[in-house]
Amino acid sequence: MSAIKLRENIWSVGIQNPALRVFDIVMESKYGTTYNAYLVTGGEKTALIEAVHKDYFDELVRNVEEVMPIEKVDYLIMNHTEPDHSGGVRALLDRCPNLTVLCSASAKKFLSAISNEEFPCRVVKNGDTLDLGGKTLTFISAPLLHWPDSMFTWDEADKTLFTCDFLGAHFCEPSMVDTGIHAVYRRAYEGELRYYFDCIFGPFKPAVLDGLDKMPAEAELVCTSHGPCLTTATLDQVKECYRQWATPSPRPAVKTAAVLYCSAYGCTASLAKAAAQALADDGCQVTTVDLVDPQGADVAGLVNGCDIVLFGAPTINRSAPEAIWDAVHAVDAINTRGRAAGAFGSFGWTGEAAGMVHEQLKQLKFALPEAPFKVCFTPTEDDLAAVAAWARSVAALVKDPAPAAPAKSQKYICKLCGYIYDPAAGDPDHGVAPGTAFADVPSLWTCPLCGMDKAMFKPL
Ligand code: FEO
Repeated sequence: MSAIKLRENIWSVGIQNPALRVFDIVMESKYGTTYNAYLVTGGEKTALIEAVHKDYFDELVRNVEEVMPIEKVDYLIMNHTEPDHSGGVRALLDRCPNLTVLCSASAKKFLSAISNEEFPCRVVKNGDTLDLGGKTLTFISAPLLHWPDSMFTWDEADKTLFTCDFLGAHFCEPSMVDTGIHAVYRRAYEGELRYYFDCIFGPFKPAVLDGLDKMPAEAELVCTSHGPCLTTATLDQVKECYRQWATPSPRPAVKTAAVLYCSAYGCTASLAKAAAQALADDGCQVTTVDLVDPQGADVAGLVNGCDIVLFGAPTINRSAPEAIWDAVHAVDAINTRGRAAGAFGSFGWTGEAAGMVHEQLKQLKFALPEAPFKVCFTPTEDDLAAVAAWARSVAALVKDPAPAAPAKSQKYICKLCGYIYDPAAGDPDHGVAPGTAFADVPSLWTCPLCGMDKAMFKPL
């Protein structure tokens, strides 16, 4: 692909890969993908936005050089630093030693570890601007879309917003604009848009709603990092889809539970039935799914939407069956706090499965009972009564929302590592005096444990 002019001063200079069928190991990409990058020129300076996957750096250079020598690019703006956008940074820095990188505080931390190089960097925060000469770019903090580092870049003069992954899709459209999508492929594009949302933004729905609210209403062109740019032909429709997908359904008035199991000879199924019945008897809304034959059940929706999730795993080859691990791997690891889970299962010889699932659920930060529930071969009536009691003990671990503390003393927790900011203690080692309310902590302060942005914290 060569450079494509999108506006008088904006070129698409990214890469198209129509043949790619698996993106980043885990995502299917039936219609290929694109690694987008954009060149934005002002009267005096030029900025490149994103730096593509390292495998495509040479092609990026060729595309940029259709517009200008790459050494004349002054700035590299990194709206997000996952290596599909930052892999080319090291080679770019080697090629352009005077390049200044502009990014968020956590993006700088990530980029340093990705490139293993020192580089001129200006950390920007919400509302900061970059003057290119007759064209000003404004940075809009948009954390958790979908990493802590993410931000938007707004070009007011051309009413163009650069959003990186936000509103993107793995869909290779040669024209690089939505109006170029042939009618035959329109439905396919919409399917890929939804799939991308579910995979990338599903765990970050509150951040999605924030991001939509932060998008300038006057935007007429949205340049994403994957798939076609969005024009006024589809932009409102795509934004509305995101809003619908990210808006939470009303919570049921009762606790919800999912009992997900596999069973070779009916023993683990008996345990599942007894556990589910106990929860239902206590007033829970229970969904039970045989993972070998889920009959269309939305397993990911259940593991991520229910207050209580029980996994019933027999032991096969010293592990749990693949269907159990698939369900565990569907857990959105960001949003499990306050929810409870447990693992149970029948076994014949050694019985590792329930314990292995229990340990994985612990890593995911569910509230867990002390131990998984295990039975050798066929459950007795006593075993069925015991698993019912065990299931009730799991349900009792669900936390009710805590009443809000007064703002000045409200503690905040880092959603990534669990570090707790206590206003009474502050963070004196990093310049935050004891007695500082979280709202008054400087916006560039980062988590002392994991380095995430302040925006990664939520009230405890
Ligand atoms: Fe396209 Fe989050 O990387």
